[in-house]
Amino acid sequence: MSSPPLVPLFLFFGFILASSAMATDKPAPVVFPIKKDASTNQYYTTLRVGTPPTSMNAVLDLVGRFTWLDCDGYGSSSYHPIPCESYRCEAAGGGGCTFCFGPARASCTNDSCLIYVATPFVEEMTSSGLGEDVLVLHSTKKIKHTSRSKFQQVTFCCVGSYWTTGLANSAKGIVALASNPSSLPTGLSTQLNLPRVCALCLPSSSSKSRCGDLYIGGGPYMQPPIKHDLTKSLLRTRLLIRPSSIAAVSNEGDEYFIDVTAIKIDSAPITFNSSILAIDKDGAGGTKFGTLTPYSRAPYRFLHSAIFNPLVEEFAKKATDRKIKKATPVSPFGACFDARTVRSGVAGPDVPAIVLVLRGDAQWRIEGANSMVRVRKDVMCLGFLDGGSGVGATIEIGGHQMEDNLLEFAVGSSTFGFSNSLLLRNSSCSHL
Ligand SMILES: *[C@@H]1O[C@H](CO)[C@@H](O)[C@H](O)[C@H]1NC(C)=O
Ligand SMILES: *[C@@H]1O[C@H](CO)[C@@H](O)[C@H](O)[C@H]1NC(C)=O
Ligand SMILES: *[C@@H]1O[C@H](CO)[C@@H](O)[C@H](O)[C@H]1NC(C)=O
Repeated sequence: MSSPPLVPLFLFFGFILASSAMATDKPAPVVFPIKKDASTNQYYTTLRVGTPPTSMNAVLDLVGRFTWLDCDGYGSSSYHPIPCESYRCEAAGGGGCTFCFGPARASCTNDSCLIYVATPFVEEMTSSGLGEDVLVLHSTKKIKHTSRSKFQQVTFCCVGSYWTTGLANSAKGIVALASNPSSLPTGLSTQLNLPRVCALCLPSSSSKSRCGDLYIGGGPYMQPPIKHDLTKSLLRTRLLIRPSSIAAVSNEGDEYFIDVTAIKIDSAPITFNSSILAIDKDGAGGTKFGTLTPYSRAPYRFLHSAIFNPLVEEFAKKATDRKIKKATPVSPFGACFDARTVRSGVAGPDVPAIVLVLRGDAQWRIEGANSMVRVRKDVMCLGFLDGGSGVGATIEIGGHQMEDNLLEFAVGSSTFGFSNSLLLRNSSCSHL
C-alpha cells in the first residue's frame, strides 16, 4: 500500500536533481576594464548605460556609496527614477523627495528618491534624484573576457555637469565600490545572484591601449602569462568594514579596513606602540583603503607619525646597506634618494620592501614600484607622508600601493585576498 505514493515522490526528486544540475551553469562574474589617468592618478572604467547605450567614463571610488553620473544631455529612453518613500529608496539611504521646476529631464524630476551627494572635488553638496537604467555587462569565462554581453540595472544619482569638476578629463561621474546597498558591486551581485566579492587589479600604466580589471562576483582571475587562476593562490586575511557615520552627509560609504599587526622593512620589524594599529572605540586608527584623494591630486598616502618616523629611519638604513645614497628631501616627502644609486628590479626600484604583517600572518610586501615616487630625474622619494597623530586612520593604502596587485574584497565572507606584486611573476595589471 505504501508503493504508489513513492512513485510521484521519486519523480519529484528526479526533477529537483535535474534542475540543480542545470543550475551548476553558475552566473558568470562580471568584469569591467580599468584605465589610469596620468594627470590625476585616478582610475576609471567605462560604463555603457541606457537605451541606446551611451559610453561614460566614471572614476572608481573604493569608498563611494552612490554611483553618480553627469545627466546633462542624458536622453536614455530606459531611465527611470526610483520613487521616494519606496522601500528601495529607504534601503539606499535616501532622504525625502526631489522637487524641481522643469523642464523635466533625468536630472530634474519630482518625487524621486532624494540623495545628497558630496562629490570628492567640489567642496559643496548637491541633492539629486536616484534612478536606474540598463547597463551593458561583460562576463569572464576561463582566460578570455567574453564579449558576450547582457543588461542589468544600475542605480545612480543624476547630477549636472558642474559636479564633475576635478575628475579625470574624460570622466562623467563616479562608480561607487563600497559595500553599501546602492553601490555597483552590491547591486550587480544581488541581481545576478553572485557572491559579494569585488576585486581590483589597478594598472600602473596609463597607456590608452592597456587596462586593468574590476571584477564583480569573484574569479577566475586570469592575469597572463600566469597560467592558473589566481583565486587559489591569493593570501588572505580578515576584511573589516567600518560603517560610515549616518550623520555625515557625504558620498562616503562604508570603508574597507584590514588588520595590520606589525610592520617590517624587508625582514626587520620596526618598533612602535602597536596599539595605534587597531580601530579604537571612536572609529579612529586602523588601516584603510582609498582610491581617491579628495581635494588634492597627490596619490600619496599618510602614515601615523608614530609609524612614519621609525619606518623612514629603518627604510633609510636598509637602503644604505644597498649602497643607495640619500638625497635632500623634497617637500612633502620625508625620505628621498639619489635615483642614480637605485638599481631597477623586476618590481620597480630595487629598494627595501615595506611588509605589512596582517592578522593570520599573511604578509603584504609593498615593493619599490608601489612605494617610491620619482620627483625629479635624479631623485626618488618614499611616497608616504607623515599623517601626524590625529584622528584619522593610522595607515592609508592608496591607489599607488595597490597597482599591479590583485586585491579581492570579499564582503560576503569578510575576507581580504591579495596576490602581492604581479610584477614579481612577470605579470601586471596592464594588459592589452
Ligand atoms: C514639479 O511640480 C511642480 C509643482 O507641482 C511643477 O511646477 C513642476 O513643473 C514639476 N516639475 C517637473 C520636473 O515635472
Ligand atoms: C600606547 O598607546 C596607547 C594609546 O595611544 C596608550 O594608552 C598606551 O599607554 C601606550 N603604550 C605604551 C607602552 O606607550
Ligand atoms: C615575461 O612575459 C613576456 C610576455 O608577457 C614574455 O615575452 C617573456 O618571455 C616573459 N619573461 C619571463 C622571464 O618569463
